[in-house]
Amino acid sequence: MLKNSQKLKINKEHINQIKQSWSSQYGDSYQEGLHFLIEHLPAISKSVEEIVDEIIANKPVQQIIGEWPFYDGTYVINEDVLIPRPETEVMIDHIVNNIKSCKNVLDLGTGSGCIAIELSKIYPSACVHAVDRSVQALEVAKKNNHQTPNKVKLYQSDWFSNIEQKFDLIVSNPPYVAHEIATDKSLTHEPNIALYAKNKGMSDIEHIIGKAKFFLEQAGYLYIEHGQDQKNKVQKLMRKNGFREIETHKDFSGKERFSFAML
Ligand SMILES: C[S@@+](CC[C@H](N)C(=O)[O-])C[C@H]1O[C@@H](n2cnc3c(N)ncnc32)[C@H](O)[C@@H]1O
Repeated sequence: MLKNSQKLKINKEHINQIKQSWSSQYGDSYQEGLHFLIEHLPAISKSVEEIVDEIIANKPVQQIIGEWPFYDGTYVINEDVLIPRPETEVMIDHIVNNIKSCKNVLDLGTGSGCIAIELSKIYPSACVHAVDRSVQALEVAKKNNHQTPNKVKLYQSDWFSNIEQKFDLIVSNPPYVAHEIATDKSLTHEPNIALYAKNKGMSDIEHIIGKAKFFLEQAGYLYIEHGQDQKNKVQKLMRKNGFREIETHKDFSGKERFSFAML
């Protein structure tokens, strides 16, 4: 939060300017985003001109504000990390209800740190590790790693390359969008490394499921978020790699969006 002296002084004219540029860019849609933006204006350390330029450049409202709520926290975000999504909150809810306690947790591809940091709150005595290949993303995660005394151990790793121990819970929301269908304009402000994977979006998921068994304790759980049309492939990979009790669950809009299994 900014000091009072740094706060942007917003008057009615500024709000009208912002509203006008918003509606010329987005029409009637994204009303919720406009509402959120205006609510946050006094805390944003940018000039009205900068904000208007960002709206015109179609920057997501979450990046204009610079932080976004996720589960039980608020996360600093920028163009180096994925904007935390509500479907990932559904996966966290399921973990909370399914796993009553755990000692060691690993979050693969942590981005803003949102999954790992929320799990460190839920399991205050667990040792939570979180890795990312992107140094820039890890810088953002470090900024968010103050929300609980049970700090997450953040370090760089190409998936499991720098992991040296076993865990009883491994969680990942990896990139799973196929390059071939990367036409969604709304994704252009988020980093490619967070979104796209080869082999129709399956290459990172395949790598993680293939290696997870070497880094999980017996009866440990693997949770993985995936695209709505990837359930069959994910379940097949889990079976092939010796996982049992495989299940897939839906997000709020009824799409099958994450699978989990026990080793
Ligand atoms: C879909 S984002 C998820 C971010 C965050 N966990 C969330 O749910 O909001 C995927 C993350 O995986 C990271 N990533 C991509 N390839 C990786 C790799 N080879 N090793 C480790 N992390 C990787 C990206 O940098 C990105 O932060």
